Amino acid sequence: MTSSARERIYLAIIAVLILVVAAMAYMFIIAGSTKTAADGRPAIMLEPGERALVLREMRDFVAGLQRIDDALSRGDMQGVAKASRALGASKTHDVPTAMMGKLPLEFKTLALSVHSDFDTIAMDAEWTGLPKRTLGQLSDVLQKCTACHESYRLTEPSLK
Ligand code: HEC
Repeated sequence: MTSSARERIYLAIIAVLILVVAAMAYMFIIAGSTKTAADGRPAIMLEPGERALVLREMRDFVAGLQRIDDALSRGDMQGVAKASRALGASKTHDVPTAMMGKLPLEFKTLALSVHSDFDTIAMDAEWTGLPKRTLGQLSDVLQKCTACHESYRLTEPSLK
């Protein structure tokens, strides 16, 4: 084999490897693992434990919103800050890496922005203490909850 033929083979192998890595990065970072549900929404395929983790976090959102609302109704802005911070970005450290790869990029982006919104609400409640501002911020967060629920659902391999 001539050295230029060998070089071409090496280049072809490198090109194939780059394509494989790009495809894997696309699957892991952008596309996630979804199929279309009966109602037309993309359903993210998760293992039962992973789905349970996401749903638990969702129920924590509702419980936390109740605590924020309760504190707000009593004018307790430090209470608002505490309840809101509990839903902040520090919660995202609990998400296993394998599960991250199954979530589409848009889902991850939306989820992260909701968590960081709760950090902002906490900080503003602490430093400015304006209930009306908190109410407006909560309305913006709730819009993100609704947007995501309209765009995605969850499923498991054993479910239809
Ligand atoms: C990034 C997307 C996303 C965001 C943001 C989001 N959710 Fe969800 N939520 C989901 C998905 C997907 C489900 C599962 C729905 C399904 O499979 O039908 C769900 C389910 C739920 C459930 C049902 C839990 C259960 O045990 O069945 C509740 C309650 C909920 N979300 C509340 C909220 C609240 C409140 C917010 C905002 C603070 C929020 N979610 C933000 C995606 C999201």
